[in-house]
Amino acid sequence: MIDKNLILKQINDAKTTEELESVKVSILGKNGVLTTALKELGKMSNEERKTVGAELNVIKEEILRLMEEKKSSLEMAEINAKLESEKIDITLTKQEPHNGYVHPLSKVKEELAQIFASLGFKVENGPDIEDDFHNFTALNVPSFHPARSMQDTFFVDGGNLLRTQTSSVQIRSMEKTGVPIKVITMGRVYRSDWDATHTPMFHQIEGLYIDKNITMAHLKGCLLDFLKIFFETDEVPIQFRPSYFPFTEPSAEMDIRCTIENGELKIGANGKRWLEILGCGMVHPNVLKAVGVNPDEYQGFAFGMGIERLTMLKYGISDMRKCFETDTRWLSHYGFEANDIPNIITGLSRK
Ligand code: DAH
Repeated sequence: MIDKNLILKQINDAKTTEELESVKVSILGKNGVLTTALKELGKMSNEERKTVGAELNVIKEEILRLMEEKKSSLEMAEINAKLESEKIDITLTKQEPHNGYVHPLSKVKEELAQIFASLGFKVENGPDIEDDFHNFTALNVPSFHPARSMQDTFFVDGGNLLRTQTSSVQIRSMEKTGVPIKVITMGRVYRSDWDATHTPMFHQIEGLYIDKNITMAHLKGCLLDFLKIFFETDEVPIQFRPSYFPFTEPSAEMDIRCTIENGELKIGANGKRWLEILGCGMVHPNVLKAVGVNPDEYQGFAFGMGIERLTMLKYGISDMRKCFETDTRWLSHYGFEANDIPNIITGLSRK
């Protein structure tokens, strides 16, 4: 008689489909143990053949069933192993959450808006693409005027241009609301220029205050207040230098006494130099006439400053071009937290 338990054990112990196949041959092959046992039936008596034959058939069925089960479980394991070994990791490494920063220019624009709002100025806006009238003619710069070549203008199709100065918004605001008026505007201006302190696009802030008796004394007081709050210092020595702008008469440029060492600005009477920071003056009668205001009745001042200049001075930035390179390393160094909102009561800047 064959050893059924041994056979079942051999089947169970098979570790691969190949091993199982050779176990199968050893049982059911031509010389397999079961085949041999079945062959022996022929040598038996009828009685014996009946009982042994029936037993062998039961055993055979059990063997075949177990073999089938074993085969499918081995196949499944082999497929899984294959899938596992051929696996490609298509996931990316986890990205650290990255905080954005407020660009120093945006920060300074917010500071400027806060300061001038506290001095009673309203914020106005004007378009970047301007016409000749608002950028030049109404500002007392007629077409033959040499001042047009002072600023290298970008022209666009249709006779318009990219504004070269925010002074254009002086005209637009007076057209809109008339006088008296007390406004600032901040925005982009464009000139064909490119080096460490000039970029073809930069930002200006422009102020305009017109009423019946506004004088240069008001201009001086206003700018001095602004500088003290902006640079967070009580003493800002300034000087006005006579200058020329077509839209103001008299015109002046304003300098502050300071020293710049290793990119750090120190304002004070013992500073080493006068540093120019803005242009200003009393609005020219022709500018008032251009918007239908009677210069015998109204007068006032205007001023204009480069916002990059102010930003670089205040935050120690040396190359202006970096402001526009969208380098996140630069931004994480010079930028500000989004919730670091300036206000003039607790102080404007990060300490
Ligand atoms: N628009 C001048 C410029 O871009 C700056 C300026 C000077 C503006 C004098 C003014 C001003 O309002 O009164 O160079």
